[in-house]
Amino acid sequence: RDPLVISAELLVWYDRHARVLPWRVPPGGTGADPYRVWLSEVMLQQTTVAAVKAYFERFTLLWPTVQDLAGAEDAQVMAEWAGLGYYARARNLLACARAVADLGGFPATREGLAALPGIGPYTSAAIAAIAFDQPETVVDGNVERVAARLFAVETPLPAAKPELTALAARLTPPQRPGDHAQAMMDLGATICTPRSPACGICPVMAHCEARASGIAADLPRKAAKKPK
Ligand code: ADE
Repeated sequence: RDPLVISAELLVWYDRHARVLPWRVPPGGTGADPYRVWLSEVMLQQTTVAAVKAYFERFTLLWPTVQDLAGAEDAQVMAEWAGLGYYARARNLLACARAVADLGGFPATREGLAALPGIGPYTSAAIAAIAFDQPETVVDGNVERVAARLFAVETPLPAAKPELTALAARLTPPQRPGDHAQAMMDLGATICTPRSPACGICPVMAHCEARASGIAADLPRKAAKKPK
């Protein structure tokens, strides 16, 4: 199975079926704004896409640029964040905006991004790939599930994480890595869902080892919870 063929077929699907989200540029477009990518990814940690949309619109209306957010009153940002939960994230958000404003803009590499306050491995990879077209691999729960099924990984989570990350990295194409990352997320959110995956309309069905073995819905396996 050629990973470039899989990602090419996934991108064809994404070009037709990408979810329209306020922080995205249309598929294949260039120039995703790193501020908007960063803000959306921070909001999307532990909050659903549906819930984030309105907050994202409000924040970018109030503060269209990272410099605007850096200059905001702490209390106003906290008040606007109310409902998204995890106030530490809002504090980190402001600390990060101020650090970026001091730097004169977002760093364009994963390493540079990872040095900013509140930016972990997931967020640094997401901004590098989506905003700066760096061939970084973005791994969230959706991507883990898609990789586990495509390659029929039967090792349970969380032990399977390193293997799933390595498999996801093999799928990341040198061209359009940001669209690829978002295509993996959209596939996991809309077709390769945790329960009752819609394999019949999956753009990469022909490459899916779990589908071939009839075990797609059973993956990824999860380690039994230890009794406390
Ligand atoms: N979840 C987290 N980041 C996302 C993105 N960029 N697109 C869709 N779903 C996401």
